[in-house]
Amino acid sequence: MHFFRLCVLSAALIVSVCFGAASATPRRFAGETTSTQKDSMLNVFQLSAPVMEPLEAKCNHHETLMEHTFGNSDKKPFKGQFSPPNCNFNRVVIHFNATVKGRQYDRVGIMYLGSTEVWRTSTAEPTSNGVKFSYSKDMTAYLSLWKKNQTLIFDLPNFVNKNYTGKYQATLSAHFWHDSHPPEVADKILPISREVGQQGHPSVFHLPYQRAMVYHHISKKAVHAHVSIAATGQEDEEFWYTNVFNQFKDDFGVNGRSLPAGGPFREVQLLIDGYLAGVTWPIPVIFTGGIAPNLWRPTVGIDAFDMREQEIDITPWLPYLTDGKSHTFEMRVVGVKQDSETNSTHLSTEDIAHHWLGSAKIFVFYGKTKKGKAHYARPKMVTNDPEIQMQLSHPKNGSMHAKVQVTRTVNISSAAGTWHQSLNYSNENLLSRNGVIQTTHQTFHTTTKSKNMYAPKFNEERKYGMPLSLKTTTISSGRGSDSINVHADVDYTLNLDTTGRPDVSAFSLASGAVSLYQRMTGTSKFSNNMRNNSDESNTHQLFDHNWNGKSYKRDTSTKNSQLVSNV
Ligand SMILES: *[C@@H]1O[C@H](CO)[C@@H](O)[C@H](O)[C@H]1NC(C)=O
Ligand SMILES: *[C@@H]1O[C@H](CO)[C@@H](O)[C@H](O)[C@H]1NC(C)=O
Ligand SMILES: *[C@@H]1O[C@H](CO)[C@@H](O)[C@H](O)[C@H]1NC(C)=O
Ligand SMILES: *[C@@H]1O[C@H](CO)[C@@H](O)[C@H](O)[C@H]1NC(C)=O
Ligand SMILES: *[C@@H]1O[C@H](CO)[C@@H](O)[C@H](O)[C@H]1NC(C)=O
Ligand SMILES: *[C@@H]1O[C@H](CO)[C@@H](O)[C@H](O)[C@H]1NC(C)=O
Ligand SMILES: *[C@@H]1O[C@H](CO)[C@@H](O)[C@H](O)[C@H]1NC(C)=O
Ligand SMILES: *[C@@H]1O[C@H](CO)[C@@H](O)[C@H](O)[C@H]1NC(C)=O
Repeated sequence: MHFFRLCVLSAALIVSVCFGAASATPRRFAGETTSTQKDSMLNVFQLSAPVMEPLEAKCNHHETLMEHTFGNSDKKPFKGQFSPPNCNFNRVVIHFNATVKGRQYDRVGIMYLGSTEVWRTSTAEPTSNGVKFSYSKDMTAYLSLWKKNQTLIFDLPNFVNKNYTGKYQATLSAHFWHDSHPPEVADKILPISREVGQQGHPSVFHLPYQRAMVYHHISKKAVHAHVSIAATGQEDEEFWYTNVFNQFKDDFGVNGRSLPAGGPFREVQLLIDGYLAGVTWPIPVIFTGGIAPNLWRPTVGIDAFDMREQEIDITPWLPYLTDGKSHTFEMRVVGVKQDSETNSTHLSTEDIAHHWLGSAKIFVFYGKTKKGKAHYARPKMVTNDPEIQMQLSHPKNGSMHAKVQVTRTVNISSAAGTWHQSLNYSNENLLSRNGVIQTTHQTFHTTTKSKNMYAPKFNEERKYGMPLSLKTTTISSGRGSDSINVHADVDYTLNLDTTGRPDVSAFSLASGAVSLYQRMTGTSKFSNNMRNNSDESNTHQLFDHNWNGKSYKRDTSTKNSQLVSNV
């Protein structure tokens, strides 16, 4: 059977079909495995903390929001009109489930209430007998949106033809109820998006191609505000942490195709009226077709079904923002660029391919303020340029070594509070044997501190990061990409520790203190040639979650895409 890599940009601006290069770099494959199970559909799942829901409660209400088949669904999102249940609910949990059968790529799905993105997910890849997957998510943080009529948009661009047959049949429902001890919720949620939800369109920005800037007024009643940011790299940016610097991009390509470039570092910046308010360094999410599909069946990778957002506290900006005028909020994706003349480095959007899906929102909490006389001054900002160290070399012909280290701190302070971030990053990529073998070692670490002088309950400290190691050996036997064999080793861990806030955070996915350690290790031999039945995989995942003193642990192992232990 012939096989090619269909470079489909989910939520595409451009649909391009390209023939895969035979050389390395992690890539994306379509699921197509012949299932060894006879009748039942394989249950594919993500290790995640359980979502608590009562069986009975005041204003207990279940509602189906969507029953939809995503066939050829590019630029055809599901659109529904949502009206809130007619009782006094203060909690919302959504349930998503889907089935898919045949052969298909993983796809990214984004759910919106109006113009506000509320959930970013991705799909499991099918087998010939079909797979099913589901996810439950606490949506209480968006209560003020659920209390109003909304255009509900679920965008899951999929492409179906005679070779890629899988259609995603999906159901989305919501559970509303009244809780006597609910978490705090934002009084106002302001989207940093294209704001085209009312017209039924997905509001995500395509970065850096589009300018992601909006204007908003912030109420004088605000005592805490934070911005939650979603940013996902796709296509040549899907494995950005393995990308080479531009000067190497044509050194390893086969069939005239260049390697994904722009270097391996990305930063998402938040700017208020053009001033840097904070940064987030994207957390790698490996989708179910990434590297080798048999690594992600039946346990998908970290955050694959729920892409955690990162948050920037903008409380120190409140004295400035509450002057009754509108202000600009902008998100930007940048990478490290080296000037070839001087060898100096700086952050720039220039070399980054236009494949970042970005959106954000401002969560604003009102309260009784003991604000002094308003002076509307900008906060004190100490945001130096990051320190960047790079070593690039061609140790011998047919190889490349690149090491990048970045550190930076951001300090913003005013009478309202302080926001402090300290981040460090290290990435090492080695390509050898003309690009057949690629190893990547990356780690990054973020520490943040929020201090709120108006409402100290929003004080919070966080530490999080992800060490990641990948080794892929990619050999093409046969013409072009007819038959690609991959040997892969993967080891990555999400660590997070937060003292917590009183609201449900889009980052920690809970209110209150959370600590999480999730490690995935796996090895795979994979061939996209269906006649080659020598695929093998072994994976292990450990999930250790602590929330407000409650511990939840899981430990799973898989062999050849079958669950062999699950405790
Ligand atoms: C399906 O695959 C065959 C064999 O590789 C190829 O010739 C054909 O163009 C493909 N069709 C589509 C619609 O992609
Ligand atoms: C998905 O959810 C709906 C509604 O709860 C349910 O009827 C259906 O059986 C579920 N499907 C799967 C495959 O679990
Ligand atoms: C919300 O939608 C419902 C049902 O379509 C409708 O009856 C109601 O008038 C709407 N409310 C508002 C405020 O538009
Ligand atoms: C830039 O780096 C290259 C390779 O390390 C070196 O040959 C060159 O002299 C450097 N140029 C400057 C201006 O430092
Ligand atoms: C590397 O390749 C170039 C061009 O093919 C060749 O001129 C050079 O001698 C090679 N260097 C080594 C160390 O093999
Ligand atoms: C930011 O604040 C922290 C803690 O107060 C301090 O250690 C750090 O040096 C400050 N950074 C800058 C760039 O001022
Ligand atoms: C990065 O920061 C973490 C936490 O502050 C620290 O443990 C680690 O040593 C730092 N790494 C580097 C390379 O500076
Ligand atoms: C079959 O695939 C395995 C890896 O999955 C690879 O090691 C082997 O060389 C392949 N055989 C052929 C004939 O392509």
